[in-house]
Amino acid sequence: MTKYAVTGGVPLKGEVILRGAKNAGFKAMIASLLCDSPSTIENISHVGDISTTKEVIECLGGRVEECGDHCLKITPNGISSFDAPKSCGLKSRAGSMFVGPLLAKFGKAILPIPGGDKIGVRPIDRHLAGLEALGAVVEFKDGLFYISTPNGLTGGNFRFKKNTHTGTETLIMAAVKARGKTILENAAAEPEIDNLIDFLNRAGGNIKRTSSRTIEIYGVDRLTGVKHKIMPDRNAGVTFACAALATKGDVFIRGAQEKFLGAFISKVQEAGGGLEIEDGGIRFFWQGPLKSTKVSAVPYPGFMTDWQAVWATLMTQAQGESEVIETIFENRFGYVSHLTKMGANITMFNPVVSNPEEFYNFNLHDDNKDNFHAVLITGPTLLASQEVEINDVRAGATMLLAGMIAKGETNIYDPHSQIDRGYEKLDENLVGLGARIVRTNN
Ligand code: EPU
Repeated sequence: MTKYAVTGGVPLKGEVILRGAKNAGFKAMIASLLCDSPSTIENISHVGDISTTKEVIECLGGRVEECGDHCLKITPNGISSFDAPKSCGLKSRAGSMFVGPLLAKFGKAILPIPGGDKIGVRPIDRHLAGLEALGAVVEFKDGLFYISTPNGLTGGNFRFKKNTHTGTETLIMAAVKARGKTILENAAAEPEIDNLIDFLNRAGGNIKRTSSRTIEIYGVDRLTGVKHKIMPDRNAGVTFACAALATKGDVFIRGAQEKFLGAFISKVQEAGGGLEIEDGGIRFFWQGPLKSTKVSAVPYPGFMTDWQAVWATLMTQAQGESEVIETIFENRFGYVSHLTKMGANITMFNPVVSNPEEFYNFNLHDDNKDNFHAVLITGPTLLASQEVEINDVRAGATMLLAGMIAKGETNIYDPHSQIDRGYEKLDENLVGLGARIVRTNN
């Protein structure tokens, strides 16, 4: 069990470097299995999700080797199994993303049922509907999906019922080697998806985003391994920015890119936070009391769901009433009870919505009466240290942030290494900026 003892009250100062995005890195590793020669993936973060992907690729028969600083070479040639759940104990939701490469190689794949985690049920019905539209046959038996392509995959038109980030990536990886042309409509627009498209196109794919939410894929027979660079992690960037502002500090985030952070930058400006876009990164600094804001977490290019927890924590320090509405996941306010315990003035509520089917990105039937979709935060409040246990990656970063602004020593217990799953050395980076965090692993 990892424990972080955080003593609050130090303004963060200095420079931090953003590493590659977790949510682009492990997908490039999976996509490299579609190639018939090795790929080199640069700027890859050392995070838990990358290690898990490495283990699965190796277990399936591929090779993953270090090739320098933050660089992995993936050799796909030895892949010899299509049954990742049984042979490799694959359980995670991300496991379903292996389907494209496995179908391309074997014409069949077995996928784990995506486990519900702490932010919602997270089904993959939209992914499966897309695969079926391309000719896959899906059977569900004994907790596993058995997917086969008796006649290979054939391109076609598919419209996603609602936005899905990994669903769009799964379909791109399935269609890139399908016969003919696939058009994905109402496809997700997250920049990590374009990072994947870039990788596949350089490997020989023919994929075009023809409008913000339409992607056309012309199937090709083969892909060849290439060198690819992972985009910087926008979520880590927002975490450091909120930490700089909440501790009344001044931090230059090297690698932060304005083009991927537009919705966040406008909220920082509205709240009265300081920022300067410089060569090679963005500086975030406290320049006086923060003002309250209203944000809704929505699909890209809007304010991301992954940012709402750290933003809500920042808003506990702003003057007045702030609101955060979550429209992507049906249950992503698990961190609120921790913040309340620390003295934050937060109430959860459900906003009045006239068109919930369009307003919410999750399937309405996955929702239940115990879930809340919005919070009202009244600030500023002095947070007091507490003992908290976390079980979601963004909630973990949120508690570190809360600890850094609280009075006294906050002990954060992370039994499933959630913080390491999504952030490379988050505690060390924060300590480098002056934070007082002592980590112990028992
Ligand atoms: N959904 C369905 N059925 C589907 C697909 C999605 O009901 O077939 C629901 C989801 O349960 C959710 C909503 O639709 O309520 C949106 O889901 P989406 O598919 O867009 O999210 P995701 O692909 O599962 C990725 C990231 C998340 C990030 C979201 C939004 C990865 C591995 N995960 O999730 O990141 O919050 O997109 O951009 O890329 C994280 O990094 O901690 C994380 C949760």
